Amino acid sequence: MSKEGCLVSAASGCAIIGPVKVLGIESSCDETSAAVVENGSKILSNQVASQVAIHARYGCVVPEVASRQHLLAIVPVIERALADAGVGWEDLGGIAATNGPGLAGSLLVGLNAAKAIALARRLPLTGVNHLEGHIYANWLSGESPCFPLVCLTVSGGHSDLVLMRGHGDYVLLGRTRDDAAGEAFDKAARILGLGYPGGPAIERAARKGKSSIQLPRAWLKGTRDFSFSGIKTALLRLVEGNKISNEADAAASFQEAVIDVLVTKTVAAAKEYRVKQILLAGGVASNGLLRQSLVQSSPIPVLVPAPVLCTDNAAMIAACGYYLFKAGKVDGLDLDVIPSLKLA
Ligand code: KG4
Ligand code: ZN
Repeated sequence: MSKEGCLVSAASGCAIIGPVKVLGIESSCDETSAAVVENGSKILSNQVASQVAIHARYGCVVPEVASRQHLLAIVPVIERALADAGVGWEDLGGIAATNGPGLAGSLLVGLNAAKAIALARRLPLTGVNHLEGHIYANWLSGESPCFPLVCLTVSGGHSDLVLMRGHGDYVLLGRTRDDAAGEAFDKAARILGLGYPGGPAIERAARKGKSSIQLPRAWLKGTRDFSFSGIKTALLRLVEGNKISNEADAAASFQEAVIDVLVTKTVAAAKEYRVKQILLAGGVASNGLLRQSLVQSSPIPVLVPAPVLCTDNAAMIAACGYYLFKAGKVDGLDLDVIPSLKLA
């Protein structure tokens, strides 16, 4: 007889009996995170050990340093996540761990920890695509998203616009052809000497300035793709030519130009596909102006996770893992990391 809160292998996949608590593990870049989420929507704990202060001195994430820090943090972070949730190993129904995309050395730490637990505790394991995890942060907002929907995922490594027709059903509508939106924010902050990480630094500086500098917007007409390398180069040329007298105005102008393109293209795609909802996801989705502009410009309801759930965290991985288990996706212990894993 099966206990409550567990996943049972069935011919058609996984039967879920009672409320299921999934342990999520995320280590794709520079945050070591573990979380316990019930039924893909209720966060019982979400622990994040950030390495931002360590990488700040280099102005970027140093892969070798990141994987070593993950090794130091992974066990305490998992222990804290369980303690915080008030659950023991026997209360878990499964383990979900990010297996790509990301830094290979970083991904390996989280995935191997997950495999070890799965083996020792005889728990089902599922590998989660980090980008899919970002999207599922929206299932933690207290409201269940409605299909079909369009989701804009904007992070440090990706800018993907996807049509989602159901759980796990993605159609790629557009993606960046060069820099990701978050990468552009990071590079612009470096050009303006605003510090690291760049996104929050640009947003902070922009609050003290006004968008008064004309910067190019790459519309790539006839496509839903993005391009952010031109705007970054334009900013660099202005700085090199000593044409920027006020960094705050430059930050505000840059932020507005990037967000203008993101919002316009997302709303146009949502209207074209007549979707019921627009979702926002990824680290850049914690930007206040992006959140506000999308909500104000869209006639279609917009759902955005809390800022703390937009940046890398394991609760989103556990939420996604729940739906993967529900669809019958259980991986073996031969599951490997895929640093260049795509969403669609
Ligand atoms: O999703 P995320 O935490 O990690 C990746 O999967 O890449 O995203 C990190 C990216 C960084 O490029 C960071 O500068 C950007 O998200 N970011 C922001 C803000 N907070 C983080 N960009 C703009 N405004 C923000 N407030
Ligand atoms: Zn991320």
